[in-house]
Amino acid sequence: PVIHRLDYQAPTYWIATVDLTLDLDPAKTLITSKMAVKRNATQAHGALVLHGEELTPLRVMIDGEPVSFRQDGNLLHIDAPDRDFELVIRNTCCPEKNTALSGLYTSGGGFFTQCEAEGFRRITYFLDRPDVMAVYTVLLRADKAKYPILLSNGNLVEQGDLDGGKHFAKWHDPFPKPSYLFAVVAADLVAREQRVVTRSGKEHLLQVYVRRGDLDKTEHAMNSLIASMIWDEARFKLPLDLERFMIVGVSDFNMGAMENKGLNIFNTSALLCSPATQTDADFQRVEAIVAHEYFHNWTGNRVTCRDWFQLSLKEGLTVFRDREFSMDMAGSPSARAVQRIQQVRNLRTMQFPEDAGTMAHSVRPDSYTEINNFYTATVYEKGAEVVGLYQTLLGREGFAQGMALYFERHDGQAVTCDDFAQAMADANPDSALASRLDAFKRWYSQPGTPQVTARGHYDAAAQTYTLTLTQRNPKAGEGAAPQLIPVRMGLVGAEGHALPLNLAGQASVGALETVLLLEQAEQSFTFTEVSSQPVPSLLRGFSAPVLLDDGLTDAERLTLLRHDADAFNRWEASQRLALRRLLDAVQSGQALELDIGFLDAMRAVLRDPQLDPAFKAEALRLPEAAYIAEQLPVVDPQAIHNAVEAAWDQLALALRDDWAWAFEAHQVEGGYRPTAEDAGRRALANLALALLVRGSAMLADPVWPGKAYQQVKDATNMTERFGALSALVQAHAGLADAALTHFHEQFAHDALVVDKWFMLQARTAERDGKVFERVKKLLQHPDFTLKNPNRARSLLVQFCNLNPGAFHRTDAGGYVLWADQVAALDAINPQVAARLARAMDRWSTLAEPFRSAAQEALKRLSERPTLSNDVREIVTKALEA
Ligand code: ARG
Ligand code: ZN
Repeated sequence: PVIHRLDYQAPTYWIATVDLTLDLDPAKTLITSKMAVKRNATQAHGALVLHGEELTPLRVMIDGEPVSFRQDGNLLHIDAPDRDFELVIRNTCCPEKNTALSGLYTSGGGFFTQCEAEGFRRITYFLDRPDVMAVYTVLLRADKAKYPILLSNGNLVEQGDLDGGKHFAKWHDPFPKPSYLFAVVAADLVAREQRVVTRSGKEHLLQVYVRRGDLDKTEHAMNSLIASMIWDEARFKLPLDLERFMIVGVSDFNMGAMENKGLNIFNTSALLCSPATQTDADFQRVEAIVAHEYFHNWTGNRVTCRDWFQLSLKEGLTVFRDREFSMDMAGSPSARAVQRIQQVRNLRTMQFPEDAGTMAHSVRPDSYTEINNFYTATVYEKGAEVVGLYQTLLGREGFAQGMALYFERHDGQAVTCDDFAQAMADANPDSALASRLDAFKRWYSQPGTPQVTARGHYDAAAQTYTLTLTQRNPKAGEGAAPQLIPVRMGLVGAEGHALPLNLAGQASVGALETVLLLEQAEQSFTFTEVSSQPVPSLLRGFSAPVLLDDGLTDAERLTLLRHDADAFNRWEASQRLALRRLLDAVQSGQALELDIGFLDAMRAVLRDPQLDPAFKAEALRLPEAAYIAEQLPVVDPQAIHNAVEAAWDQLALALRDDWAWAFEAHQVEGGYRPTAEDAGRRALANLALALLVRGSAMLADPVWPGKAYQQVKDATNMTERFGALSALVQAHAGLADAALTHFHEQFAHDALVVDKWFMLQARTAERDGKVFERVKKLLQHPDFTLKNPNRARSLLVQFCNLNPGAFHRTDAGGYVLWADQVAALDAINPQVAARLARAMDRWSTLAEPFRSAAQEALKRLSERPTLSNDVREIVTKALEA
């Protein structure tokens, strides 16, 4: 059944309070739910219809009297009176058989929950929709020896022992919340604790719960939590509203983490950090996710979503907030630019293909079959870009005022994206946003990545420069109205200096940077008093999520690479120089030959004493295959793969002395610190080592592979150890297998490191089918299991969704593996299977023979009778292409 946004109706009843009792048992947990049900007088009277999935109902009582009920699929119909009443329901569920990891499930001998989006209905019967907000009191009873820790949302009000070796804990959450924010944990855990006093003078207890033995890996998460609290109070005046804030780690989890009120539950991969077992990228990710979940306490929990079509209201906004936090934490302007570069690289490789593919949807979707399929790059990352557009249009101050008004109006409510937009506009009545709010809101309703073209004309006699911008968005449908696109820009003179901007028809201020508002299909902007032919630097900081055709020449791009005042656009110039060469090779069908001009430019970046190592590592990295594919009407994944591999080979050989210099010059002395500066040096040293080993493999030179092998053995932190291992594996060097074996033996006991070991092998660039053969073998490895989402993703999503050069084979072997594994995984965990199913999103643009073979695999999968709703929706939409 397809659910439509415009069909929203308020419920017939509200639930004001819930008293839950859970008698926890892995095979049969007994749940008693006592609810204060209120008639919603705005709706016509009708039956009370509750959600319930995989539950056994025992009895239903209204005001103390048993009443009859009717079960109809996943709905429970109760003839309820046309007034307020007390409803009591008793039911059971089976946590140990819950491999879908939605609702109440067991992991590592403990109980955990995941209720977003619709998991609460797998615990008990309820109005499981985000606009029904209730105050929860939760009584947990369980075996004391097996489950010494009993947690739920809010404050602990009572605990004690019971007969038969059991104990209990009673929790009360004073804040009304939707059921998706409910959480329970019962397990044998230990906690890192910290008491903090916030500005208001209130004391709070912060706790990070993990399994015994992992406590020393929680320091970074705790530090990140404290930093997040300080930041949110300073930047948005949003304090922690709870006495106690808990984070719990669990190894079996469907995504990164979950913002349950006062009781965040985290995938251990998004929580645990130690220099010996996690990389710089992991440290960065943990900081960002801890912040993200903490920030949800206001953007998501205090103000929540009216319905799931509004998901980006909380996710786009919270990603925007965690990005701002990460940028502030990174510190220097250059480190901030590197953050932005990584965001954009991610957007282009994940979200742009999604927005062009069979699952394309707007930031606020209009319909869905399975809401779990809409926790997407579009809702999260493009949603965050859209929130960023407000800040670009309003400025930091105006944006903060909009936020303040949003909370003033909507604290404690379940609202819509329209409410957010309105608060932003009303707080800034004289802004460009307020006067164009309807046009701006097309960012929520129109799918597709707008394509912007820029062409400049310099009139030497008149000393004017006219920039003509056009936009189109074929994916938004015929006749879709233009979108409001802020184009941050500057003009760079021939000698590399920034030119003052005098925009005809506007107060001439001579600023060096401005934001043009592109709001029509075509618009021209004329700058006066331009004394020489300028190079336009457009879309600085990636000021809008669009595809830009800037029409610049190589020479102009080299000027920007060297001189642009905007670090993001210097990086962009490097990417465009590389992209043009890769596309030329792919489209001409000829072997890629990198020219001296390009290689010299890359060498100059590498050797430039003014640039930070982290920036260099980003500028020297080639564009991802998925982004290259998005520039092409017909995609031959093997042609892209060959061009990218050839480019790396040539960069490795032509800059061999420079890489050797870079490797030596960027070693980090002293103990490990996860700072942006040290991480940048390690990133560049790792890139250099990868290219040195690659070059050595081509030259049959044993020195660098030998050094890398030694580094795998001797490194004192995971960033350097894994960097060296990756260098050997990616180059298919002789010592790669020995290094992999050594690494596995050393870390066999650490699941998160074993995940890395699988991941690396699955995402290695293909060479003669070796990667495919290895992935098939790894499916049989004793450490492999489909039951653990991290492990399944480490091998399968990395290979099918993220390694196109290995996955797309002329013999269709990758597609056969994909269909088999999606089906096998679907029987265990539909949410994770649906993610894997999305490897075929872009099948219809593939060249033959890939296209027909992919279609064939999709058809075969779709013919299976037992597919989940999750996978069914993905496959059906794919076949509609
Ligand atoms: N709200 C969580 C977060 O972004 C993610 C929940 C994802 N839920 C799901 N069913 N996929 O922090
Ligand atoms: Zn989130």
